[in-house]
Amino acid sequence: MVQNEYEIKKQICDIGKRIYDRNMVAANDGNISVKLNDNEFLCTPTGVSKGFMTPEFICKVDREGKVLQANKGFRPSSEIKMHMRVYQKRPDVGSVVHAHPTFATAFAIAGIPLTQPIMPEAVIALGCVPIAPYGTPSTMEIPDAVEPYLEHFDQVLLESHGALTWGKDLMTAYYKMESVEFYAELLYKARQLGGPKEFDEKTVQKLYEIRRQMGLPGRHPADLCQNKGQANCHNCGNCGSSASTGSAPSSDLVSEITKKVLESLGK
Ligand code: 13P
Repeated sequence: MVQNEYEIKKQICDIGKRIYDRNMVAANDGNISVKLNDNEFLCTPTGVSKGFMTPEFICKVDREGKVLQANKGFRPSSEIKMHMRVYQKRPDVGSVVHAHPTFATAFAIAGIPLTQPIMPEAVIALGCVPIAPYGTPSTMEIPDAVEPYLEHFDQVLLESHGALTWGKDLMTAYYKMESVEFYAELLYKARQLGGPKEFDEKTVQKLYEIRRQMGLPGRHPADLCQNKGQANCHNCGNCGSSASTGSAPSSDLVSEITKKVLESLGK
């Protein structure tokens, strides 16, 4: 279904209310954007609660984040540069969501990435959630910190700050945020209970195969080079690295893949 601009603005308000009601943002935190076409993007305004927006609040910017249209009293999110970097590097992305969900943000503050394979849905939907190094909000430090992860992931934790997710449309980007937070909450609670029971490598591989069979859109560690030579290979550039061979990595496959990706990124 093709939505018109007003419907998309209403959907941004609905998702803003949802992230607010679900404790994924406090006060005026968080921001949301949606791509209309290569040079027009809708985004939430800076400094308002995302729980109480109406369509008139929503601003329109160009590909550099400069204002194309904004009603009196509204300016685009102070984090618009972070959103624009995602769109620049990932033409397949149609929406970006930034929030501060409690558990995911607690991991981001503790500097712990979400890499333990503990439940099927998280392994299939996310694989793992790395942490982009800390950057000062509203500066180019955050877009620069996030950029290395864009090629291989659809979500990152922002160190000492929150979480960022992206996807082909707003619902996909939003659901990714829900999945990140649910995974973080389960991981946190399982640690309180003595530590999660992790999947072994074979179990993770089976789940990765299910993801590939489902043909889910977006980027995911499961796609790292196991797809070499197949139609849906996204040419991640890792062909030839040990992560690409399909040979047995360490017992914690997700951790190992994350490590390989980060190594290839020079981290
Ligand atoms: P904005 O209100 O400018 O979008 O900023 C909110 C926020 O969460 C900054 O990280």
